[in-house]
Amino acid sequence: MKNELNFHQANFEKPLLIVDSPGRVNILGEHTDYNGGTVLPFAIHKKTQLIFSLSKDSSHAYSHFHQEKFELAKEPASNHWGRYIVQALHELQKEGHCVPPFNLSICGDLPIGQGLSSSTALTCGLLAGLNHLNSLGLTKNQIVKLSSKAEHASGTLGGIMDQTAILYGQKGHFLEIDCLTKTVQAHLHELQNSEWLLINSMVNHELSGSEYNDRRKDCDDGLQLIKEKTSTDIGYTDLTAAHLQYFEEEQKRLSLRIKHFIEEQKRVQHALGALAKNEPKKLGKLLTQCHKSLSENYEVSTPEIDFLVASLIQTPNVYGARMIGGGFGGSVLALVNKNQSQTVLRQILPKYFKAFKHEAQGFVCYPCDGLKIRPYEKDSF
Ligand code: GLA
Repeated sequence: MKNELNFHQANFEKPLLIVDSPGRVNILGEHTDYNGGTVLPFAIHKKTQLIFSLSKDSSHAYSHFHQEKFELAKEPASNHWGRYIVQALHELQKEGHCVPPFNLSICGDLPIGQGLSSSTALTCGLLAGLNHLNSLGLTKNQIVKLSSKAEHASGTLGGIMDQTAILYGQKGHFLEIDCLTKTVQAHLHELQNSEWLLINSMVNHELSGSEYNDRRKDCDDGLQLIKEKTSTDIGYTDLTAAHLQYFEEEQKRLSLRIKHFIEEQKRVQHALGALAKNEPKKLGKLLTQCHKSLSENYEVSTPEIDFLVASLIQTPNVYGARMIGGGFGGSVLALVNKNQSQTVLRQILPKYFKAFKHEAQGFVCYPCDGLKIRPYEKDSF
């Protein structure tokens, strides 16, 4: 961080503020948040860091990840990293907030495009930083909303899980977020004999945004069909397995998407029980079942991710594993016996390299505090 702070001072002005915006993992409840499901994420120790200073002329952002400076008054290309920032600024403006010119450096150790929510860490970090610098008076919930709108405008119609985990994360706790009522509960999370191992596949699918939006549409079409067949105004959280009877053979795809939602909601409830009683075997099984459904019913996995999960669950000391996040590449989360992650990685990573010629990376993760804002004091770095 010292180098990035010096870089900021040399290229812009003296830093004023630093925001640490963490990534997140989700224990269970994948691809359900945008349909009002319940999800169980926690913020992790890897984070995107944003360094802010004021500017005398126009606003700029420099990304250490891309080693590129971007002028924020310009219109970014639809796949440029700057689009998240520009869209978040538009959303602020639409709400009547006017922010004076600023300079921003983006750095940190949260991998980009690995399903750990790096883009949301960026928009939440930006909004929280500008909120603090300019005393805009935004609440956490307003930041969740603005970040979510910015993400939609950037092309992905995501839910509120990532923003909520990043802003409300608490050390030693996982969150239970009811995305229908938008309520958040923090539960103490102390795994006694197991740990969470994350593996980044180092593969990411270019079309993930549009495929993600297609899944949402499939769900909406599926729900609409059930509403018509039952002549009711039923919602997602009222659905049961009995509703799957209304789909014809040619509507199989929609029925599989809805099946995933119904079963995943059940798995979340079972996982809450397993977490409360510290039952890693039961929890691991639920993770692996979730993966099967994401791969076969929701069709958001890839050969690389399926390979990692299949290899992990055959490895001693692994209770279960699944892809996390939006999918189409990214990361796998595994529940592993305590202090066995390095042994597991030594078995998995060479196999993965041999099969796909990608160097996957793995690390243990644990629940950490959410987003933090610190004023810059030179001597503290
Ligand atoms: C992405 C989205 C989230 C959520 C997950 C899948 O991370 O941003 O809102 O839908 O995918 O669970």
